[in-house]
Formats: sequence, structure tokens, C-alpha cells
Amino acid sequence: MIRCCCQIIARLLDALTGIIIPGVSTQKIDEFADDFIRSCGAVPSFKGYCIPGLLPYPAAICTSVNSGIVHGIPNVCTILNEGDIIGIDVGVMKNGYHGDAARTYAVGAISDAARRLLNVTQESLRLGISQAMQGMRVGDISHAIGTYVMANGYYVADNLTGHGVGRSLHEEPVIPNMGLPGKGPRLQAGMTLAIEPMVNIGTNRVREDGWEYFSADGSLSAHYEHTILVTEAEPLILSIA
Ligand code: MF3
Ligand code: CO
Repeated sequence: MIRCCCQIIARLLDALTGIIIPGVSTQKIDEFADDFIRSCGAVPSFKGYCIPGLLPYPAAICTSVNSGIVHGIPNVCTILNEGDIIGIDVGVMKNGYHGDAARTYAVGAISDAARRLLNVTQESLRLGISQAMQGMRVGDISHAIGTYVMANGYYVADNLTGHGVGRSLHEEPVIPNMGLPGKGPRLQAGMTLAIEPMVNIGTNRVREDGWEYFSADGSLSAHYEHTILVTEAEPLILSIA
């Protein structure tokens, strides 16, 4: 089920720590991920994924470097350099269910500014998840993420959201990364949600280029995502090993 998909993703994201080093191409990372997912008897959810107006998504994972926010397409020309950051987003399907998770990695040693962005984005995800209990509302998750990001002087990327996940990769509800507490759909035990803050250093505005989203000012952007299960008590993070 979903937990099984998420466990594959968690193990893959852990394994990628050893692959993401200066000199590697995003294409190589994609090949590693594609092989890993298939060796687990699963398939990459993103490959062939369609949205109106674009060709089907061509790769197993998304690789978004530096000012890349999400949906970067792996390719042979993008070679990682020391000091880069790279968001890796993975969807896995097995037995008719999907899981979805992402992390942003440091390539070698990174600047203090980049490290702080990663820390704040990761903490905003933790705070968002902590609101995801039965009886709370989607707006409580959104508000927890957005207020923490803004309090740290950063920006939530416009119009990019989390989502329900299950039989389909993207399901109801939409989970914005800023919002009002006490508003939006009520959370029920048993719901599985992909919560995913996308945070820019310099602006909320985004630039789109085909599939790919970038911060409009070229500033660094980070992305962390977990698939979680809503319960009557603490949420269960499915995408950790
Ligand atoms: N995790 C991504 C999201 O929720 C999935 C991207 S689908 C892709 O938006 F096909 F673009 F990779
Ligand atoms: Co997602």
C-alpha cells in the first residue's frame, strides 16, 4: 500500500546522499533512481505523467538545482558543482497506490545562507506535519508552514501546493503553503497527504519554463516533502525509513 511506496522512496532518498557529489549529472541521478525503484518491483509515478499543454514528464524523478523550485528535468548537461543545492522529488507507484516525497541536498560544502534555507524549509515541513491531526483543518497546516517561513525572512513560492495522495498521485485536498488557521477542509483519520513547502530566499514569484519552476529573481529555493497518514493522535510520517 502507500506505506510500502513511501518506504521505497525513503530508502532511495537515503541512498542518494552517496550519489549526489560534485561532477555527477542529474541524468545519472535519475538513472540510479529509476533502477532503484524498479528493483523494488515498483514504478516511478512521474514518468509519463501528463498535464495539459506539456509533453509527458520524461524522467523518473525531478531534479531542481539552486534557483530551481520543482519539476526540474534530469539531463546530461546539468553537472553538479560544489556548493550547489539540489531538490530531489520522487513518486513511486506499487500495487495501485502512490507515495510522494522530496528532499533538498547539499552538494559538498555549501554557504551558510544555503544551509539556513535548507534548515528553515525542513523545519517548516515539520511544523506543518505537526498540525495534521484529525479535527484540524488544511489551513492549520498551511498557516504553520507559511508563518514560520515568513518569520525567517523567506518566501513561499506562489501557487505551488501539497496535495492528497493515494490511488492517484494528486488527490484532494489541495494543501497551500500559507493560509488561515481554522479554514479549509477538515482532516480525517485515514487521509494520506503529501505536505511540501517550497521556499525561496528572495521572492514569492516564480518563473515557469515548460515543466520547470524557478524563483523569479534567481535566488536559491528549497523543497522538502513527506507523505503522512492522519490519525486521531500524532501524524505518522510514512516516507521515513
Ligand atoms: N511531487 C510533484 C508534485 O506534487 C510531482 C510532480 S509530477 C511530475 O507536484 F511529473 F512533474 F514529475
Ligand atoms: Co507532491
